[in-house]
Amino acid sequence: MKMNKFSTKLPVLLASVAILGAVIAGCGTSSSNSDPEELGFQDRGRQLFNANCGTCHVLAQAASTGTQGPNLDDAFAAARLAGVDDDTIKGIVRAQVHRPQVVNGNYPGVTMPANLLEGNDLEDVAAYVAAVAGVPGIEPPKAPGEGAGAQIYANNGCGSCHTLAAAQSAGTLGPNLDEVLPKMSKAEIHEAIVNPGAKVENGYPNAMPSDYASKISEEQLNQLIEFLMTSAAADANG
Ligand code: HEC
Ligand code: HEC
Repeated sequence: MKMNKFSTKLPVLLASVAILGAVIAGCGTSSSNSDPEELGFQDRGRQLFNANCGTCHVLAQAASTGTQGPNLDDAFAAARLAGVDDDTIKGIVRAQVHRPQVVNGNYPGVTMPANLLEGNDLEDVAAYVAAVAGVPGIEPPKAPGEGAGAQIYANNGCGSCHTLAAAQSAGTLGPNLDEVLPKMSKAEIHEAIVNPGAKVENGYPNAMPSDYASKISEEQLNQLIEFLMTSAAADANG
């Protein structure tokens, strides 16, 4: 992703702000979560983001890895630096979810679906994105679950696509790990992570990132697999 595209994107964002001025003004009193460091795994907006948006968008605090749409940290970093406040970003996000607009020509063939979320869900996700997107140095919250592997699961965005009770993740693009892990061997789990295209689970898209082998060290991979196996076993035992 080219960092210099802010320069062309900022006017687009600011134009939508102008168009939406009235809408935003009407919502000025909403209480957004202002301290991004406080947004933990249980934050509703974060969970909604991971379930509905993270498969297409990178957002560091959500540890999401989707690349079908723009990186939302990059999208809002320049606006934030230019002094655009959370409420304004929230208005832009709300409007984009309500009625998606083409932001530039970089995403041919992918259309962001309209009205993915409405009402309180939309408010929560917009407030969440507004609180965290483009905040310099922001990281995912400390992960729930035991051991180093839980944090590795969280930091690599596994939860934006997979449900796993021990990690409190609820993604649905990929198989429910509570259901499939108990039937998998350690070697199969390893292969599924480092070489996901080799055997694509029936009924699912070949959408799992294929670069984990280069992003996760062998030691971390072992910790991750350990976490997955103990989580699944704990779950199977009730
Ligand atoms: C199927 C993939 C997909 C999903 C799911 C999706 N988006 Fe998008 N989104 C896109 C694409 C593609 C664009 C760029 C639009 C374009 O240029 O055509 C985009 C653009 C955006 C933008 C504008 C970014 C910018 O650079 O100005 C925001 C904000 C956004 N999406 C937020 C969300 C939120 C919040 C959700 C979840 C409620 C979501 N998106 C779900 C694909 C998706
Ligand atoms: C962008 C979405 C996405 C992300 C992120 C993702 N996965 Fe997946 N995953 C999938 C999909 C879709 C499948 C099913 C297709 C396939 O088998 O490749 C899958 C398959 C799997 C399987 C095999 C399941 C089976 O039934 O064979 C395992 C295990 C798995 N993922 C673990 C992980 C782990 C661990 C991470 C994080 C390091 C992760 N996934 C990140 C989407 C994702």
